[in-house]
Amino acid sequence: MICDLLIIGGDGDLAFRKLYPALYHLDLDTCLPDCLRIVSVSRSATPEGGFAKSVRERFEKYDNDLTIDEAVWQRFSKRLNHMQINATSEADLAKLRKEMFPDESRDLIVYLATPPAIFAPICQSLWAVGLARENMRIVIEKPLGSDRETFQEINSSLTALFDEKQIYRIDHYLGKETVQNLLTMRFANALFEPLWNSNYIDHVQITVAETVGAQGRWEFYDEAGALRDMVQNHLLQLLCLVAMEPPASLQPSAVHDEKLKVLRGLAPMTRRDVEEKTVRGQYTSGNSKGEAVPGYTQEEGAKPTSATETFVAIKAEVKNWRWAGVPFYLRTGKRMQKRFSEIVVQFNEVPHSIFGEQMRASSANRLVIRLQPEEGIRLQLLNKVPGLDDALPLETVSLDLTLSEVFTDRRVPDAYERLLLDVMRANSTLFMQADQVDAAWQWVDGILAGWRAAKQQPLPYMAGSWGPSESIALIARDGRHWQE
Ligand code: BG6
Repeated sequence: MICDLLIIGGDGDLAFRKLYPALYHLDLDTCLPDCLRIVSVSRSATPEGGFAKSVRERFEKYDNDLTIDEAVWQRFSKRLNHMQINATSEADLAKLRKEMFPDESRDLIVYLATPPAIFAPICQSLWAVGLARENMRIVIEKPLGSDRETFQEINSSLTALFDEKQIYRIDHYLGKETVQNLLTMRFANALFEPLWNSNYIDHVQITVAETVGAQGRWEFYDEAGALRDMVQNHLLQLLCLVAMEPPASLQPSAVHDEKLKVLRGLAPMTRRDVEEKTVRGQYTSGNSKGEAVPGYTQEEGAKPTSATETFVAIKAEVKNWRWAGVPFYLRTGKRMQKRFSEIVVQFNEVPHSIFGEQMRASSANRLVIRLQPEEGIRLQLLNKVPGLDDALPLETVSLDLTLSEVFTDRRVPDAYERLLLDVMRANSTLFMQADQVDAAWQWVDGILAGWRAAKQQPLPYMAGSWGPSESIALIARDGRHWQE
């Protein structure tokens, strides 16, 4: 894989925060092809002192823990190039091609780290100047539209020019180590599959809680809200990995097909369902990690009348034989009490208890897959408390697999490292195909329509809490509670 990587929007937040650090780590781990060149283009001029210097300064600014290996940095910085161009201009791209990419035999990866509104003009110009070719792959990121219709518009502008197999749609959650481990846990162990259905599973919870607010990107966030920003992509992708049937292989199409069936099997949300099974919230001022923080509508640059949700909880169902009657409770929010992302698979109680009174704790086993922080898997089991008591006192204990403790000599790579490497290897298993994004929008559109029709205002919740009390009520109505 001799390739070049062109990052359009190469001086943006995504590039500095995620892409260059990921590429540096790949270089550190000697995963990059020797001759890989990274070409960043943007409308702004190459910074004084050179582009590599500004990348290094940002490393230091964003990641205090990153220790740079000077020898690796020497190698990495030589790969970095920057050109000031307007990527929608054919003349500029023709110049770029001539100066940077004269050799058509090298694979070319084009990463569009730009707003989707300019995907189409950029791609048309790439074609016009001959930069788009068969051995080229294009990488794009959400937001891919704000509903199904706008997604289809963006998508058709790309598929008119590229083959589906050339398009890599990133959902960075799929690059997270524990998310990939979910596939391994389910399909490399014989233990879980026989129990992985409505006969043994009571319900599933998927929580992605953040302590940060919308500060710094208020305007962008306000257009989206938690449903579009998190549920349409990250949470639904996690749901797919939990709920999908075993794919025949790890081939991209085998995995995509199974995930697509899950998305298409989601029970559509009618207006009444939306009222009963969803909760929208917006944070008000409060405390986050010991500090007073403003409410969403008081953030810098905020509109005081904004009705965008920063929290959402949903009771979803997958209509198929395996999951009939098993609720999937989804929840995500900004300015929550703790930052954690977790999938909880709650098994049923034993059908008959022989332990009577001693079994005060619930007997139900629980499998907890922790995505972050402290990635790992915990299986909760009932255990006898050691001792000579006549009665057998029982207590819930965990079989704990904290990744950093088990694999002490291994670094957990960032999601972007895995995903960028997979694009270089032309492996699209961890990327989203258009029909998946489309199906996810179709389901989400039902919720958006329900909210619009009900003219529902988001419910207030205090920053630093677990969201509106209605979210607790949503799950409590079914005799269950959120795991926190
Ligand atoms: C992004 C969202 O996709 O994911 C952000 O746009 C969110 O709003 C982020 O903060 C969360 O990602 P992570 O990896 O920090 O959980």
